[in-house]
Order: sequence, then structure tokens, then C-alpha cells
Amino acid sequence: MVTEYCAEDWHSYRMDYHRPHEALEPLEREIQIVDEALETLKRAGVLPHTQYDHQKFLAFRQAVAERFEIPWTAITPRMQRLLYAINAIAQPQVMIAAGVFCGNTFISNAGAAVGPGAVYTARDLVGVEIKPEEAERAERNVRRIDPTGVARVVAADAVDFVAEYPHPIDLLYLDADGDGRRGKGIYLDILERAWDKMKPGSIVLAHNSVNCAETLKHYLQFVRDERNFRASVNMIVDGEGLEVSIR
Ligand SMILES: C[S@@+](CC[C@H](N)C(=O)[O-])C[C@H]1O[C@@H](n2cnc3c(N)ncnc32)[C@H](O)[C@@H]1O
Repeated sequence: MVTEYCAEDWHSYRMDYHRPHEALEPLEREIQIVDEALETLKRAGVLPHTQYDHQKFLAFRQAVAERFEIPWTAITPRMQRLLYAINAIAQPQVMIAAGVFCGNTFISNAGAAVGPGAVYTARDLVGVEIKPEEAERAERNVRRIDPTGVARVVAADAVDFVAEYPHPIDLLYLDADGDGRRGKGIYLDILERAWDKMKPGSIVLAHNSVNCAETLKHYLQFVRDERNFRASVNMIVDGEGLEVSIR
């Protein structure tokens, strides 16, 4: 069973969180790593294929660099490309992102359906952020890319939001860092509340599968249990990592 993709240089591939748009390697290398990661997801049965529009992705990346206010981010260029590609390939009608801070993680997912990188039409793409002032900034950022409102940010606790959300969720992205006690352990709480809306074939993405693996222990045990998910693969493209799971 395929359970991991590991870029050989993930240890040394490092970004400055305050310089989100700085190139860290030649574009060809970034594309190669993400292609390998996507191929692993295809072999694991998570994605049907590995093709996505590279020009549209670059248009999306440029729009974020020009229009977003990003005080800091841990989303590396590799992770930005990987998130965009997974969404461009899986094409979720409903995507919910939990814990979006200034919106950069959210738009890395939603950018496949709205703005200059759009490759399909989605129904509802929601970023959920518990801090009202951060949610406001994220919403402001997103509006500069998507005037339609298909992608939107709400100020709410993601645990409550997914519990009350009235439709099936095709893709759930987890990045909330909870309160002091739970930290990223809150991922499992959010997933449990979303569970009855996650139909077979739905995808869950969890950021920080590498650097927060200890705090995420119970979450990772849950998604790697075949009774819960058909497949779950750890994408070690950088020091943060992304666990990709399919029901
Ligand atoms: C560490 S940030 C994510 C940053 C992101 N990884 C990046 O690099 O841009 C986590 C965010 O989750 C938010 N958060 C924490 N608990 C939450 C909850 N229960 N519901 C929604 N958002 C939450 C925090 O306010 C914070 O903005």
C-alpha cells in the first residue's frame, strides 16, 4: 500500500515565512517534485490522473502575489502548487478550509475554481477563521481574486461550522491550530463533526503532517485506519507536510 511520498531534500527545502513569494528553487524542480507527489496520489487511488494547467497555476500564483496581504505564511511554493493541483484535478463542488488565517491556504485550494487560475466551476468554497479580524482580512484578500462570492471567508469556529453545514463536503482542508490545549489536535474534532457529510470519494487534506506529527497523532491514526479511509498518503514535499486522505 502506498502511504508516503518523500522528496529527498525536504529537510533543506526551507522558506522564510515573511517572504511568501520568494522562489526557493528552479521552477522545473518544483514542478518535478509536485509531479512525483501527484503520481504517488494517483497510484494510491486518491486522484484519477496527474494533469493540471501549468499556465493557469502561474496566473493564480501571480494574482496572489499582487493582490493578497500576507503578513506571514508557512505555505511553501511546492505546497501552494500541490494544493492547487489536487483541487484542479479533484474539482470539489464544495470545499471547506478550517483555520485559514489571512486566506493564503484557502486560496491555494479555491484558486483552482475562481479567479485567473480557475479551471472548473464550483458551488461553494468556504474558508473558516475563528479570529474575526483575520477572517475580515482573508475575506478582503479573497474578494480581490474572486468577485463572484463562490469563494468566501466566514468568521466562525470550524468545529461548529462543519457540524451545521447543510450539504455534503467534497474536500475538507484542515489547518486550524485550536486553542492552547488542543493545538492542531483539533483536526480530529473538526473531522468528526464533518463525518456524516463526507461521502465515499471525498478528500481530506491536513497541513503540518510532518512538523506537527506528534500533536496530530490521534488524527493520523484515524485517517490511516482503513476502516475509516480507503487510502491516506503523507506528502512530504517540505518540512510541513500534507496528509491526503480519501474516503
Ligand atoms: C497557523 S494558522 C494557519 C496558517 C497557514 N498554515 C499558513 O501558513 O498560512 C491557523 C489558524 O487557525 C485559526 N483557528 C484556530 N482554531 C480555529 C477554529 N476552531 N476554527 C477556525 N479557525 C481556527 C487561528 O486563528 C489561525 O488563524
